Amino acid sequence: MKTLKIASIPGDGIGKEVVPASIDVLKTIADVHGGLKFEFVDFPWSCEYYLEHGTMIPEDGLKRLTDFDGIFLGAVGNPKLVADHISLWGLLIKIRREFEQTINLRPAKGMRGIQSPLLNPKDFDIMVVRENSEGEYSSVGGTIYQGEDEIAIQNAVFSRKATERAMRFAFDLSTKRKKHVTSATKSNGIVYSMPFWDKVFKDVSKEYPEIKTESQHIDALAAFFVTKPHRFDVIVASNLFGDILTDIGAAIMGSIGIAPAANINVNGKYPSMFEPVHGSAPDIEGKGIANPIGQIWTAKMMLDHFGEEELGAKLLDCIENVTGAGYLTPDLGGNSTTSDVTIAIINQLKTI
Ligand code: NAI
Ligand code: MG
Repeated sequence: MKTLKIASIPGDGIGKEVVPASIDVLKTIADVHGGLKFEFVDFPWSCEYYLEHGTMIPEDGLKRLTDFDGIFLGAVGNPKLVADHISLWGLLIKIRREFEQTINLRPAKGMRGIQSPLLNPKDFDIMVVRENSEGEYSSVGGTIYQGEDEIAIQNAVFSRKATERAMRFAFDLSTKRKKHVTSATKSNGIVYSMPFWDKVFKDVSKEYPEIKTESQHIDALAAFFVTKPHRFDVIVASNLFGDILTDIGAAIMGSIGIAPAANINVNGKYPSMFEPVHGSAPDIEGKGIANPIGQIWTAKMMLDHFGEEELGAKLLDCIENVTGAGYLTPDLGGNSTTSDVTIAIINQLKTI
């Protein structure tokens, strides 16, 4: 019996609705599979926890998380109670940084029964590998002078280590997919870091002669996400470029409520963290209409990460059977509830 110990952090808002729903789905999968067991431990770390304790997580919080195989997170943030920079940096970003989750993986895929805002899109199935530890999101820089002389300098940091790591991850992933990697660059405008990025991409690609490669400038690539998303398989991108591309990816899928993500620790020192792209959605909290698919698809990415790719594929298929059958929450134009969609997915799983 394979047992996976998972730390569950529902967080705030709809996180508290979609995480329990997804745990029900994962428990069903374990029942169906037979050889797999999940042990979930719930952590109440959230904005409400902050109001009570003055901190988003206790002092030994990170240490406690290291005992787990993975972290399953809903969403963090309740700007009415706690400023976003405190809640997000105190929990989510703290875990990503301290646990060296240097890769952010985000798929974008056309789903059966879900209307993309694109007109007649061809089938697309993209995986963006985003460098998650440095790049444009560095804290290197500063400000000088005031008033009309005021200057802000923000440095981008590209190390060979982190760049190669992201690229190898993308190439390894593509060997299990369509064997095609696109690099998001901008070496025609950014003259130091991006030529370096291109050079590393070329170097790493030599280790994978069977994989087809191309480099695209990020502006053109963003446009192609809208006009020809079916052209892409795996895309490797810097922190900022990957962030922007994956929001377009969520948009062309049809709703941010279905977009999943994984923060991967590749050195095996710490657990990886699985969380959907969306936030805590305070505007629909408590109404029972949050789309659980982003979180459930995130659970699929967790299954993949632990080598249960066959089960992961089955789960995604069940999700698509359910959307294909018209179980859609209001963000997708339907009138199903969180629990309607969850129960339909669980029922599908029982038939596999
Ligand atoms: P959001 O993603 O929470 O909501 C944006 C819009 O999408 C809202 O209209 C919301 O109702 C809708 N939406 C999001 N998820 C949905 C779902 N599963 N089903 C149906 N509709 C859904 O982004 P927003 O409003 O900018 O942020 C709200 C809070 O969440 C803030 O405190 C923000 O900092 C935090 N946040 C946290 C993230 C995380 O924990 N990873 C990511 C993004 C935002
Ligand atoms: Mg973003």
